Amino acid sequence: MAKPDILFEPMQLPCGVVLKNRIAKSAMSDSLGDGTGHPTDTQIRLYDRWAEGGLAVAIVGEVQGSPYFAEKPGNLVLNGDADLDRFRQLAEAGARNGAQLWLQLGHAGAMAYPPISTPKGPSALDMPGLTCAQMTAEDIAALPAMFARTAMLAQEAGFGGVQVHAAHGFLLSQFLSPLFNKRTDAYGGSIDRRMRLLLEVIVAIRAAVVPGFVVAVKLNATDQLDGGLVEDDALEVIRALEGTGIDLLDISGGTYFPGATSSSDSGGTGPYFLRFAERARPITTKPLMVTGGFKTRDHAIAAVASGVVDLVGLARAFVLQPDFPVKWQRADIALPFPKFTDPPEGGITAWYTMRLTEIGEDRERQEISDLHQTIATYEARDRERAKTWAAYFKMGLCPVT
Ligand SMILES: Cc1cc2nc3c(=O)[nH]c(=O)nc-3n(C[C@H](O)[C@H](O)[C@H](O)COP(=O)(O)O)c2cc1C
Repeated sequence: MAKPDILFEPMQLPCGVVLKNRIAKSAMSDSLGDGTGHPTDTQIRLYDRWAEGGLAVAIVGEVQGSPYFAEKPGNLVLNGDADLDRFRQLAEAGARNGAQLWLQLGHAGAMAYPPISTPKGPSALDMPGLTCAQMTAEDIAALPAMFARTAMLAQEAGFGGVQVHAAHGFLLSQFLSPLFNKRTDAYGGSIDRRMRLLLEVIVAIRAAVVPGFVVAVKLNATDQLDGGLVEDDALEVIRALEGTGIDLLDISGGTYFPGATSSSDSGGTGPYFLRFAERARPITTKPLMVTGGFKTRDHAIAAVASGVVDLVGLARAFVLQPDFPVKWQRADIALPFPKFTDPPEGGITAWYTMRLTEIGEDRERQEISDLHQTIATYEARDRERAKTWAAYFKMGLCPVT
């Protein structure tokens, strides 16, 4: 086994930014926006604690460029109407202690939160738990500029970079997936066409920000869904990304499609996507981050020592022990992963989300009670916040069907 020091070696990204070590807090939708798309004090405190805990970079999940296709009403919305000073406070807190803080640029598309949106995806869908309309050519044409504007504002507010969200079944991932994308125009069909929007978004962002600003992409290795994106197609996307100005490719997988497997609800042991990363390594010179299933320091050391992975992405570990990077530098502490018996779908992700609030409020971890109750509490909070969102953004509150 390689020495732990390998995890604490700095690395330089193509844009010149130096990450202080190899440990990243992968994007999590923390549900801590205030319902008007702005950061709360609890959220600012959460990122402050993570930065103090010794990570190299944290990524805020699901930051929307438009309020109309949010994943949840606790998302941030960064557009021309946002109060940049609130975002500046978040950027500052998350960049303490030499950490980087990036925003993940999201658009939930077909999976937009129904009470505050009329979901639209690459193609119309009507299935249990998921109904959406098809985006028009005009809708698609407006997207690169929208993502680029949010990236520009992120830079202005003091964040170190952005991550384009093309994973887990949200809009850009829907375009990549033959299951969601049945279009017959230039944005559907072969993988070359399905990735077209993602490439246009990246080009627009890179043109809108300064050369030293990080542009990363999160991509599924596979959707783990019948008829979804498969590994060979994901490798084609990686080949194409080689020709773009991105600084980092974050590989993950799974989707939040109703009934599907999501990585954050998975109970698997050991990292999930290393075999895919081994396939990707020879075809790209871009730094690779791999996210999903890292549970021990040995997992992380082995991944970096293999030469395949440059940066290890962890989500749930950071919820359980926000300062594990400083601890891992001194000793091999075990992370307190809870055991869930027969968890309902979405229950584990709901539990981790509620725990994020406790961390931001400097509260101790509560005993795990009934996960059905946790889901109910989580959903009730979102229903309340949706009312604030609908009033603030002057949209009707749609009934949940
Ligand atoms: C509470 C929670 C919220 C998440 N939200 C997002 C998100 O907004 N964007 C994203 O790309 N992934 C999101 N994820 C997925 C994680 O980034 C990660 O891919 C997944 O949890 C697997 O990593 P882990 O095994 O280290 O938890 C979320 C995970 C959790 C637990």
